[in-house]
Amino acid sequence: MKIALGVTGGVAAYKAAELVRRLQQEKLDVQVVMTRAAQEFITPLMFAALTGQKVITDMFSAAGAAPANLESAIEHIAVAQRIDLLLVAPATADILGRFANGIAEDFLSTLYLATKAPVIVAPAMNVNMWEHAATQENLAKLRARGVHVVDPDEGYLACGMTGAGRLAATETIAREVCDVLGLRHDLAGHTVLVTAGPTCEDLDPVRFLTNRSSGKMGYALAEAARRRGAQVILISGPTELKIPESVDWIPVRTTEEMRRAVLDRAGSASMVIMAAAVSDYRPAAIHDRKLKRGEGHLTLELEATPDILKELSREKRGAILVGFAAETDRVAENAKDKLERKHADMIVANDVTQEGAGFDTDTNIVTMYSRDGREISLPKMDKFEVANRILDRVLEIHKQSK
Ligand code: PMT
Repeated sequence: MKIALGVTGGVAAYKAAELVRRLQQEKLDVQVVMTRAAQEFITPLMFAALTGQKVITDMFSAAGAAPANLESAIEHIAVAQRIDLLLVAPATADILGRFANGIAEDFLSTLYLATKAPVIVAPAMNVNMWEHAATQENLAKLRARGVHVVDPDEGYLACGMTGAGRLAATETIAREVCDVLGLRHDLAGHTVLVTAGPTCEDLDPVRFLTNRSSGKMGYALAEAARRRGAQVILISGPTELKIPESVDWIPVRTTEEMRRAVLDRAGSASMVIMAAAVSDYRPAAIHDRKLKRGEGHLTLELEATPDILKELSREKRGAILVGFAAETDRVAENAKDKLERKHADMIVANDVTQEGAGFDTDTNIVTMYSRDGREISLPKMDKFEVANRILDRVLEIHKQSK
């Protein structure tokens, strides 16, 4: 696979050389693109020597002499079409601003607009620049467009200050590249069952009870597990999401349908991850005719639905069981309580009152609680990245259980 590595002008530019080597270990063909500022910190010759390829350093130097067609004459379009991924590391505040605002004034920012390949940025800068509202707003825009962000580490910075802004470790960036390109195969041989979306409970032929789950968290888990080599069973309540390729997709509507599908299929799974927002209650009776409006209040009688996760854990089929907890208060207490009551191996809690967390967002903020007492809190991340971190932990628990 071919990736373009954009190197922009910051002290961390020298670390991009080590990154090239690491990416080559993954058998990736790396085309380096440097901004003018990057060339003040490190020379193109260094990258040319490492990659054995000409480094693209400005907008017009690389145009072909005898173009086969108009598009191939414009090198940024040609590169944009050839690459499977665009990675920018280190990414300065300036390039993030240009990407976020569609300013195409050099090769790299033009490449960003011209490519349909996934994009990863690994920012590195002074802590005040990192924390500045302009930078954070630009990042939020990019995340909302599906750009993957590898957050910087905290520590001593080249400017003499301490805080967030240090380029993430080479290994972390390389792992993100592999995840996005689907090159990690550590789930090969596993069957992962994921539930996603809401369930709907009918009241009469035209009305039902449901919730705000979009299915994004569950579908991200299914996609991440598939890319890592697992067989995936995705049991999904109604959502507007595209049916993922190469997964066994089972649409359901009600809690009872989800229960039957889960119990039928869980036997073949080594990991069950229940991200669905399952209705806890349903109307005690389903009216076969539309309920008519009358005078005064209408009181509905609701009955509890079966607890699928609890039922599954009672059957002790040997799969690692992971539940989610969507909470609005006392998050840790409620999550730990669910871990015990539902006999799960792990509960992933999200405080759905936090901005960028929970229902119908592209990002999530979660804490994972497992039976060994470990608690792992993740910062706000794209749901796909959250999914990968959850799978990392589930795999660890699976290995420990052997
Ligand atoms: O779909 P998105 O828009 O991306 O939103 C993601 C999400 C907020 C739905 C997701 O991150 C999440 O928190 N899912 C679980 C929501 C929920 O129902 O939590 P709960 O605390 O009510 O349930 C705890 C666990 O028991 C869940 O794993 C649930 O699937 C399971 N459960 C609940 C009720 C029931 N009758 N049977 C169950 O198995």
